[in-house]
Amino acid sequence: MVKINDNYNKLAGSYLFSTIAQKVNAYTSAHPDTNIIRLGIGDVTRPLPQAVTDALHAAVDEMADEKTFRGYAPDRGYGFLRRAVCENDYRQRGCDIDEDEIFISDGAKPDSGNIQEIFSADASVAVCDPVYPVYVDSNVMAGRRISYLACTAENGFVPQIPDEAYDIIYLCSPNNPTGTALTRDELQKWVDYAAQNSSVIIFDAAYEAYIREDDVPHSIYECSGARECAIELHSFSKNAGFTGLRLGYTVVPKDLVREGVSLNSLWARRHATKYNGAPYIVQRAGEAVYSPEGKKQVAALVDYYMDNACYILSGLTKAGYKAFGGVNSPYVWMAVPDGMTSWEFFDRLIEEAGVVGTPGSGFGACGEGYFRLTAFGSRENTREAVDRIVRMGA
Ligand code: MLT
Repeated sequence: MVKINDNYNKLAGSYLFSTIAQKVNAYTSAHPDTNIIRLGIGDVTRPLPQAVTDALHAAVDEMADEKTFRGYAPDRGYGFLRRAVCENDYRQRGCDIDEDEIFISDGAKPDSGNIQEIFSADASVAVCDPVYPVYVDSNVMAGRRISYLACTAENGFVPQIPDEAYDIIYLCSPNNPTGTALTRDELQKWVDYAAQNSSVIIFDAAYEAYIREDDVPHSIYECSGARECAIELHSFSKNAGFTGLRLGYTVVPKDLVREGVSLNSLWARRHATKYNGAPYIVQRAGEAVYSPEGKKQVAALVDYYMDNACYILSGLTKAGYKAFGGVNSPYVWMAVPDGMTSWEFFDRLIEEAGVVGTPGSGFGACGEGYFRLTAFGSRENTREAVDRIVRMGA
């Protein structure tokens, strides 16, 4: 009889956002008249920017014409998109990254789950606690040992450099779920740690577009030495609204070498074997994000969500809650009232205010006692949700 991958038995019963969706569906079936506002999963609600939809339409027309039809995309993604990424996200910021170090994909979530495959099964892994669950679950599936770096209000939700040497460290900044961000100096310390210990940092920059403060780096490659020790993940979901289109990219610098092997070649081999490329029309849509109109429209989208973040943060603070994040990030992380667990607060919020958020304990033990609200709702819903929470009282 075939044996299953027993590591799957070590996972929580279901993925955090699936559990929440099940709970909300059960609640709405039992209370069909309640007007529920969802500020739980970080899924966007605004339509795609006009520059993006124009590019999609034009690309669809190309696919309908024999002369311009395209089949499989190149393994690492089309040159037009890798050039746009390289120029806008790296060279213009003074980061030394080449086009052939960029791998176009269907998003940062799959890449963050898949990247661990290029490391040995016994590599030690450190993640922040609380943490985006994909980093943990994908390593549990592979049977790895995971250590947790506590991020609490006491340390400003900043992971402290550990005494032990870990092989792989996942960092996400601006952070999901706490909404806080590492400064350039704080990130440089991690790069120095990785260099000293021959570790590899997997840096998730999915929320980079939300950075407002000058001392917060947009890329880990702003830190010196990062080309030798860091992989970076990017998403088009949170800035340009691609959650339903799917597009992202991963940067693996050629200077990143372990045991004499280039991780860029390993990831290229994995990508070519297991992935057939983001659709041509979606890559053209991604290119449009970097056009002059695309940049303006994406900036307006990000501003729209940041206005929500600001409303959430100030509303919660006025209502007497301790709240964090929301300054360089679309997430606000709040402390739940004393004596309640995160899941108890989840139940109270849906019952008394008709608002759905994400219980902090779903992101790890240090998330207990906290709750996450996202700024990705519509302006009207976000204001209504915050006003209801304020009326409910702390
Ligand atoms: C979240 O709510 O944490 C995000 O939507 C997750 C994701 O981007 O996969």
